[in-house]
Amino acid sequence: MTRPINVAVLGATGSIGRQTLDVIDRNPGRFRLFGLTEGVRSTNREADYLVQGQAGEPEFDARVESMVTDPRCDVVVVAIPGARALGPTLSALHAGKDVALATKEVLVMAGALVMKAFAGRAQGALPEIKGIRPIDSEHSAIWQCLWGERRENVRRLILTASGGPFWAHPDLDLDQVSVEQALNHPRWSMGPKVTVDSATLMNKGLELIEAHHLFGIPLDAIAVCIHPQSVVHSLVELVDGSLKAQLGRPDMRLPIAVALAYPDRLSDAVPSTSMKELSGLEFHDLDEGRFPSVRLARQAAVKGNGHPAVLNAANEEAVKAFLAREIPFSGIVRSVEGALGAFKGGGESLEAILDADRWARAYIRENSGSLRAL
Ligand SMILES: NC(=O)c1ccc[n+]([C@@H]2O[C@H](COP(=O)([O-])OP(=O)(O)OC[C@H]3O[C@@H](n4cnc5c(N)ncnc54)[C@H](OP(=O)(O)O)[C@@H]3O)[C@@H](O)[C@H]2O)c1
Repeated sequence: MTRPINVAVLGATGSIGRQTLDVIDRNPGRFRLFGLTEGVRSTNREADYLVQGQAGEPEFDARVESMVTDPRCDVVVVAIPGARALGPTLSALHAGKDVALATKEVLVMAGALVMKAFAGRAQGALPEIKGIRPIDSEHSAIWQCLWGERRENVRRLILTASGGPFWAHPDLDLDQVSVEQALNHPRWSMGPKVTVDSATLMNKGLELIEAHHLFGIPLDAIAVCIHPQSVVHSLVELVDGSLKAQLGRPDMRLPIAVALAYPDRLSDAVPSTSMKELSGLEFHDLDEGRFPSVRLARQAAVKGNGHPAVLNAANEEAVKAFLAREIPFSGIVRSVEGALGAFKGGGESLEAILDADRWARAYIRENSGSLRAL
């Protein structure tokens, strides 16, 4: 392509959104900001499409639909958190666009549907994913490790988790930790939803389901380990015992650059890493007793039939309630467990998934009162 690649950024005012604008700005001959969405904040940017407002408002949704299906749009960066990103993602994929996906919730709630939406364009072989390019650093790492490998040669994936702010403090009472403590992530600067998800380790549960759909790897062949330095972004083990990992600083501009430039590489996307920064790397087992989120996510994914959508929606609502100081931190995972236990199962169609999503939100709103007293 001789003209710059036209990029639409959904959630341009957020952490991923702003870093995406930075990557675009630093590569003006290669990328052009074609469109963007803003919520309550502003980027003061101009583009062919500027959509302001909240997802769910008819005017916002209609304009986003026009933007992501516009024939001039090449790549859509999806970085609006939560279930509300599903509609625009499906529209972009159905319109034949490449999607650089930060919003893992989309694949958690409707992974099979989303992967089907670009199946016609995929080349079949695992490393040649076309259509969806992961931005999550772990999935970007796995994606890069898989380039040049054949699916039958992959034994397992290993997702690394920083552990969030509480993992290294086993004596902390998780009923008592504050919103400020939960938002104080030791490694990454991110939006509030994903930061709280990192603290509960639900982020890793969501990423487990995301990896399963994205790479077509069975759930029982995906492991999680704690790696507090966040330098090894994830690993792939091959059948001969080789381990491939992608390493780098905790800087989301790198996976964003990888997603936008694929199959090319951008020069100097992030500063070079010194070997000293790679010293003292630690890896630990996940304590599923204290942090049961990954187990819950795995169980929900095995059950299917709307359970992943319930996991995701219940978690979104519970995180919202925690950030509003309505429930304690430990109430987030308890709420999700309660919702999963009460859910009778649904189907795999879009309607069934949206029903499961609505059911879970209502369940959490109705039942969060019982957690307030803690
Ligand atoms: N941040 C990271 O390092 C990181 C890493 C991996 C994956 N992710 C994933 O990327 C996604 C975005 O995360 P983030 O950290 O960038 O979030 P964030 O900083 O909270 O930004 C969210 C963006 O979405 C917009 N938005 C929020 N609610 C909206 C709504 N109802 N309607 C329309 N727009 C809305 C916000 O607009 P306003 O703020 O202007 O209202 C903002 O532009 C999440 O799914 C997260 O899990 C993030």
